[in-house]
This record gives sequence, C-alpha cells and structure tokens, in this order.
Amino acid sequence: MSHASSTREIPGAGDVPRHVAIIMDGNGRWAKGRRLPRIAGHRRGVDAVRATVRGCAERGIEFLTLFAFSSENWRRPAEEVALLMQLFQAALSNEVEKLHKSGVRLKVVGDTTRFDPKIRRLIQQGEHLTADNRQLTLTVAANYGGRWDIMQALSKLMKEKGSLNEVQEEMLSPYLAMSYAPEPDLFIRTGGEQRISNFLLWQLAYTELSYRRRERRFGRTSDQLQDAKRAEVA
Ligand code: IPE
Ligand code: IPE
Ligand code: MG
Repeated sequence: MSHASSTREIPGAGDVPRHVAIIMDGNGRWAKGRRLPRIAGHRRGVDAVRATVRGCAERGIEFLTLFAFSSENWRRPAEEVALLMQLFQAALSNEVEKLHKSGVRLKVVGDTTRFDPKIRRLIQQGEHLTADNRQLTLTVAANYGGRWDIMQALSKLMKEKGSLNEVQEEMLSPYLAMSYAPEPDLFIRTGGEQRISNFLLWQLAYTELSYRRRERRFGRTSDQLQDAKRAEVA
C-alpha cells in the first residue's frame, strides 16, 4: 500500500496522530544527574520504550517509530557502543514475545549489516513472528541515518530506472526504508535538544513538533482551511 506524500497531496489530519516518531534522547544526562554510569540511563530508556509502546497502543496510534541508534552513534566510546549493542540484543531476546502478545508488529530500519549476526538473526525472527500484527507498528531505527535512507532509496531507484531525467519525487518513497508507513504526524525529542540529528529527513517534511493545538496547513493559508471547513458544513 502506498501512502499520501505531504508535498504531492494534502493528507487527512485527524485528532489522534497516526504516526508518532520519537528521538528518545537524554539517557546519558539522566544518569549523570544521578551519578550513575551512562549505561544505567540506557537501561532506563528501555523501560521508557515499554511505557511508550503501551501508551501509543492504548490511544490507537497506528505507527510508533523510535530512534535507537544513529549512523553517527558509532563515534561514541567503544565501551558505550558495546554496552548499547548488548542492551539491544537483550531487549530483542526479552521483549519480542511480549510485543507479539500485545499485537505489535516489529520493524527495524537502518543498515543492519553492521550488527553482530546474533542481533541480525533476532531482528529477522522478531519481524517474522510479528509480521501479521496490526494493533501498532513499532519501528526501531538502528544504525539508521536519514541521509543513508535517501541514498539507499535513490540507488535502488536508479538501478531500476537507469537515467536521472525520469526521476520524480513520488518515485523515491517506495524505496525508503519505511515505505510501509505514512509520514509522521508528530515528532518528539525528549531530553531538551531541538535537533533532527539525521533522523527521518525526507519523511519529516510536514511533521508537527507539537500536535493538537496546531492547524495543519500543508502549505495553504489559514483562510483557505476556514473556507474549506465552512463549505463542508454547508
Ligand atoms: C539517547 O541518549 C540514546 C542513544 C543515543 C543511544 P543519549 O545517550 O544520547 O543521552 P544524552 O543525550 O547524552 O544525555
Ligand atoms: C540521536 O541522539 C540519536 C538517538 C537518540 C538514537 P544523539 O544524542 O546521538 O544526537 P546528538 O549527537 O545530540 O545530535
Ligand atoms: Mg543524546
């Protein structure tokens, strides 16, 4: 199934966002503030993920996307990277069955070729087990970068089409890693920073940074929306 592109069409905008994308940041600072090692913050991060998944499922949100590890996070100290990998592996081993029971479909996006074979196997098994679940689609972005995504999509597209002259915007999205999901309606970053940090660059074009009190205009004016609403009522 293909989804509306926010720049090519005007998507519907309901009360509850269909797709929420979150950068769960601030783990290290949370731990430091408590004089704990950074990894203690990452462990608490896993608890926060559990609570967030539950909250989204209860509210009828269809897609939740979490940034777990960016393509730039390899630049961190080797010890922290190793501990994050251990935590990722443990979370996959311990949580997938529970997710499955709650009707959650698990997807992992990013260049997973750089992960340990054990982690890759757990990802494959988890995605396979939960593939038919529809309560909520939980996407974990791991070794993900928005630029990587655009480039891998472009390279697949070019392989099929050959020449750049023929390429149009809507031809790229089916090749993006999250082609199965609509563009996010809401983007949240915890921890206080106001940065995208190479998350979903293409898909965040019209994503709101806060949602309910916003008027979603998709490039139009406020007057146009009011007119459209009046026409609907009449
Ligand atoms: C987010 O928390 C988790 C990962 C990037 C894996 P951080 O580790 O970035 O925590 P801060 O931002 O340093 O506090
Ligand atoms: C973004 O957080 C990536 C994840 C949370 C996985 P970072 O903490 O790595 O981002 P910067 O370095 O503050 O931009
Ligand atoms: Mg951070």
